[in-house]
Amino acid sequence: MPSQPGSDRTPPRPPTARTARIVLGVGGGIAAYKACSLLRLFTEAGHDVTVVPTASALRFVGAPTWEALSGKPVHTDVWSDVPQVPHVRLGQSADLVVVAPATADLLAKAAHGLADDLLTNVLLTARCPVVMAPAMHTEMWDHAATQANVSTLTERGVHIIPPASGRLTGADTGPGRLPDPDDLYAVCARILAHGTAAVDHAVRQDGIPGDHPTGPLRGRTVVVTAGGTREPLDPVRFLGNRSSGKQGYAVARIAARRGADVVLISANTELTAPPGVVVVPVQTALDLQEAVEKAATDADVVVMAAAVADFRPAHYLDAKIKKSHDPADPDAAPTIALVRNPDILARLVESRGEEANPVIVGFAAETGDDQGSVLDHGRDKLARKGCDLLVVNEVGADKTFGQDVNTVHILRQGSSHVVDAGPATKDEIAAAVWDAVQEIL
Ligand code: CTP
Repeated sequence: MPSQPGSDRTPPRPPTARTARIVLGVGGGIAAYKACSLLRLFTEAGHDVTVVPTASALRFVGAPTWEALSGKPVHTDVWSDVPQVPHVRLGQSADLVVVAPATADLLAKAAHGLADDLLTNVLLTARCPVVMAPAMHTEMWDHAATQANVSTLTERGVHIIPPASGRLTGADTGPGRLPDPDDLYAVCARILAHGTAAVDHAVRQDGIPGDHPTGPLRGRTVVVTAGGTREPLDPVRFLGNRSSGKQGYAVARIAARRGADVVLISANTELTAPPGVVVVPVQTALDLQEAVEKAATDADVVVMAAAVADFRPAHYLDAKIKKSHDPADPDAAPTIALVRNPDILARLVESRGEEANPVIVGFAAETGDDQGSVLDHGRDKLARKGCDLLVVNEVGADKTFGQDVNTVHILRQGSSHVVDAGPATKDEIAAAVWDAVQEIL
């Protein structure tokens, strides 16, 4: 695949128009190691970074690492370098304070205004945007005390980047992971460019005009659909499919990392929204069609990764269908009449007419059969749908659905060339899809 194995990292980012003074606070959690990568991203972008770890953070990553990466001395308490009054100066002069990871203890101290070390002093003296990225075990994150502290901080204008879900330190999984440094960087870069109000506004799903500081998709608006539609039959039943939404979420995440403004139309997933992405939740194919058509009017790219139901029940019944629904024949099973849903992708292609805008990408889950191979079916579908790219993946009982690894073939309209990507993580597959889109853009 064209991207670097194991990474979607674009080459070192050029300095942003304005370099900033950033204080990177590091709490005492295992995720402190990820803050090293975040620090590198800031310094590569030309920012001036002072690292202020807590004493317990230094148990995870030592002072020499922070000093070497930032090129500055590192202190944890207010008793070093006293004539410079660092406990006041650092916060006052910062353009951005970022705390990653923010432990439950640090959130509690910040919420209650405690100031018993250098970092908590910085948090009290800072008048610039403050970003905190909590990371801890799920139970600690879910605890009412932590949630109350997060609410207090949010009300005071601190921008909280919610933890991601996934594997935690031990065998347990759940919300509590520190998001990837690239995602943290993307949010911070956006706050430096627009301020926290603009970013909070985007997260509230209203959307903002995009002007991301870096990345090959900077200034582009992209719409991604993900998940699987559900077509209700009665108040308790629906026709659905096995799509987890993971691949579509990865497509949205990588687009945001590459600087795009992303609208993610999400059908029935439990996944955590990638940072900075505007999420529009939908349920049925008709909801999804309405949301896509609205968002597509301003889009440069539409990626249809959602599994859209081709059929829906012809009638929705307000009351639950009972097992013995037919008094004349108590053992009879009902016959459910279905009607066709619109082909949203084909309509998008039709409605853009001769114009090349937006670039439209379809996904196709295929199985080979006696009519042809997975690729044969993919080529037919590309011709039938008329989109610019078709990402074809092979499905089966143990393939693709809900997995973290995927294998795809990317077909381009009017070309016999096929890009084979994978087996690779869904983020890496997403990177290959965006590489192909960028060639067209
Ligand atoms: N799609 C769509 N509207 C539909 C069905 C599918 O927009 N009603 C989109 C999907 O989001 C995907 C692409 O079309 O990007 C291909 O979906 P797929 O289900 O493979 O295609 P179908 O046209 O339903 O073909 P098949 O006969 O293989 O089911």
